[in-house]
Amino acid sequence: MIDPRETIRTKRDGGRCDPAHLEAFVAGVADGSVPDIQAVALLMAIFQHGLDGEELFAWTRAMLDSGGKLDRGTGPVRLDKHSTGGVGDKVSLVLAPALAACGVRVPMISGRGLGHTGGTLDKMEAIAGLRTVLDEASIDRAIDRAGWVIAAQTATLVPADRKLYALRDGTSTVESIPLIASSILSKKLAEGLDGFVLDIKVGSGGFLKDVEMGRELGRTILGLCSRFELRASAQLTAMDRPIGVAIGNANEVAESIETLRGEGPEDLWELTRELGADLLVQGGVAPNPLTARARLDAVRADGSAFEAFVKGVVAQGGDAKVIEDPSLLPSAPDVDEFQAPGTGVLTVVDCRRIGLAAMALGAGRRLPGDDVDMGVGLEWLADPGAEVKAGETLVKLHHRAGHGLEEAREQLLASITLDGDGKHLPALIERLSDAE
Ligand code: URA
Repeated sequence: MIDPRETIRTKRDGGRCDPAHLEAFVAGVADGSVPDIQAVALLMAIFQHGLDGEELFAWTRAMLDSGGKLDRGTGPVRLDKHSTGGVGDKVSLVLAPALAACGVRVPMISGRGLGHTGGTLDKMEAIAGLRTVLDEASIDRAIDRAGWVIAAQTATLVPADRKLYALRDGTSTVESIPLIASSILSKKLAEGLDGFVLDIKVGSGGFLKDVEMGRELGRTILGLCSRFELRASAQLTAMDRPIGVAIGNANEVAESIETLRGEGPEDLWELTRELGADLLVQGGVAPNPLTARARLDAVRADGSAFEAFVKGVVAQGGDAKVIEDPSLLPSAPDVDEFQAPGTGVLTVVDCRRIGLAAMALGAGRRLPGDDVDMGVGLEWLADPGAEVKAGETLVKLHHRAGHGLEEAREQLLASITLDGDGKHLPALIERLSDAE
């Protein structure tokens, strides 16, 4: 192997690395022959100078090849979505079973919450008995039984990402478009997909604050997908306010169940349907977005999406009774209200703080490894852009004996203004497709 210092030097000086050298470097990180100190140096050089299309392809391929892959088999098409994360984002819990009810397979490898964003795995684990830490054989079995699974990254899927991500986290090199793109896509490629949609959350509650950065991530990932011959699209969607009403864990599961049963907040279903429609068209299940949306509405209306949810929960060891009767989900004993501090038009100025309010109550982690309280959280009743009157209830806080209540109130107060213009992003800001 070429001396890793050569690869670091080339990138440090803004040059283009030989793709084969990058592949060897990543393989060396994964097998331990490249020490952390060199890995960190190259990560920082990439953070500063980026990777071109071919470099990124080689880097991502090496990450993918660092471990095993899920068994693609010969069954129905396999489709998946990834969201860059936000506040109240429970779309995966609704989308995966809805797609399964349309006859496709959804092998969703997902993550945990940190800071202001919730994690899909934490939410799923609010269901009694349900396990998300599964080995590859169990993941394949759950998919065979229910058509979908939401599971944690296994020890053998993309081990290079686990290592690189930890190094990035410790060295402030997470926010790099090529490093994010390779990290997300290597895990998705390991799922053996036929189609992929990326939900890029834009706004103060996401980690991409502006549309231009969102577009750049979208174009980078779509460019990479086309090199891997994976059909894909991306949607830039609003994260300048929470999705739906529930923000937490068990309450987000309850809201997902309501939505699968034909109720629940409209914005949640519309977003789910829009992302799902892209996937059904990519997978050849529907000829166009109109038919795809109708198909998703139909599986929601006839109860088959809900049935698929129950099947998937059982396949992961969860208690079906909890799904039939969501009042059995964990819940916090105490409820307080956050009221409008005056009269005016409600503008969310910092959605991240709404997520931090839920975290303060115990619904999220300040640090990896912190415990999560499944029962606490927020009910976001506010209507961004609407006129509100002083004293009107905007948020209900479900807490445990006042734990974190003061901090949550402060965060909520700082998250809104009544003197703003009431303008927020459109729910669907922009669509990008691999044809562009
Ligand atoms: N999500 C990932 O999986 N990886 C990143 O680098 C960022 C977000």
